[in-house]
Formats: sequence, C-alpha cells, structure tokens
Amino acid sequence: MKHTIRPALKEDIPSILDVLQPFASEGIILPRTSEEILDSLQYFFVSEKGDGICGVVSYHDYGPKLKEIRSLAVLQGETGKGLGSALVQWVSEYLIQQCPDSKIFVLTYSPEFFKKLDFKEVDKDLLPEKIWKDCQNCPYRNHCTETALILHR
Ligand SMILES: CC(C)(COP(=O)(O)OP(=O)(O)OC[C@H]1O[C@@H](n2cnc3c(N)ncnc32)[C@H](O)[C@@H]1OP(=O)(O)O)[C@@H](O)C(=O)NCCC(=O)NCCS
Repeated sequence: MKHTIRPALKEDIPSILDVLQPFASEGIILPRTSEEILDSLQYFFVSEKGDGICGVVSYHDYGPKLKEIRSLAVLQGETGKGLGSALVQWVSEYLIQQCPDSKIFVLTYSPEFFKKLDFKEVDKDLLPEKIWKDCQNCPYRNHCTETALILHR
C-alpha cells in the first residue's frame, strides 16, 4: 500500500503522539505534548498508509534563513522501507520552496542516517545561540551528545 505525505490535521494528534512517544521515552527525540503539537500543527507533516499514520516530521522556523528538522520518527514496524528518508526529503523540499536561501539543520543521535541524505556534520558551536533555547528542559543540556548536521545543496 502506498504512503502519502501530507500536512498534519488536528485529528492526527493522537496518532502523532503514538509514533513519537516510544522514542521520546528513550530520550532519542524531545517529548511533545498534544498542546505543543496543536500549537505548532502547521509545522507537522505525517506519512499516511491506508487510514493509519506511520511517520511524522516537523520543523522549527527560526526565520527565513534558518530551519530545523525535528520530531522525525517512523512507527516501529514500518522502519527500513524508505519512509524516514522520504519524510526528510519531503520537508527539505518544502522548506527550500518556501525559503530558497535558508539553512536546514538537524540535531540528532542518528547522524549516519542524515549523512545518506546529503546532510554534513558541523560544529554545534557554529549554530546560533537561539537554537539552544529549547534545550533548557533537557536532562542532557550540559553534556549534549547530539550531532549537528546541515543539508548541503
Ligand atoms: C531514523 C528513522 C527516522 C529512520 O527511518 P527509516 O524509515 O527506517 O529510514 P529509511 O528506511 O529511509 O533508511 C534509509 C537508510 O538509512 C539507514 N538508517 C536508518 N536508520 C538509521 C539510523 N538510526 N542510523 C543510521 N542509519 C540508519 C537505513 O539502513 C537505510 O540505509 P540504506 O539506504 O543503505 O539501506 C527511524 O529509525 C526512527 O524513527 N528512529 C527513531 C527516531 C529518530 O532517531 N529520529 C531522528 C532524530 S532527528
């Protein structure tokens, strides 16, 4: 059955949480509440198969020059089929269309996955200070081991 990627709708929020929650519990991605997702619903996209949501991707908008891909997750059982790559490529193309000059970055524990998609590792200190605002509540904020990568194009 074919996957379709589309903007998230309010009624998708429980399914989005179902996809994100197992990885948030493991500390692989930042936890999100339904209120946070609702508040930033315009930044969420889902991959749908039949009437089920199998994957999620979101971005944070730091203005016309800087965008962050975040909340990327594929339902356990649906991984390894190209869905994660399709979501990253989809949101990257969307952002490039919106803001052709923007830098697209990601902070991740899966740098090798992003390297296959033309992201290149960069020194985290090169990213502007404002991106760390979101990390205030993270238990790893003083010893962050995530890798920063920027999309090369
Ligand atoms: C990372 C994740 C999104 C990948 O989704 P996926 O649908 O399995 O990815 P794809 O099938 O498109 O994989 C593409 C390639 O990346 C590789 N890959 C997948 N996950 C990987 C990982 N965590 N690390 C390194 N390589 C990975 C695949 O083996 C595949 O390689 P190939 O092209 O040589 O066969 C998914 O495993 C996931 O949801 N992980 C938990 C959440 C997470 O880590 N999100 C990223 C944080 S920003």
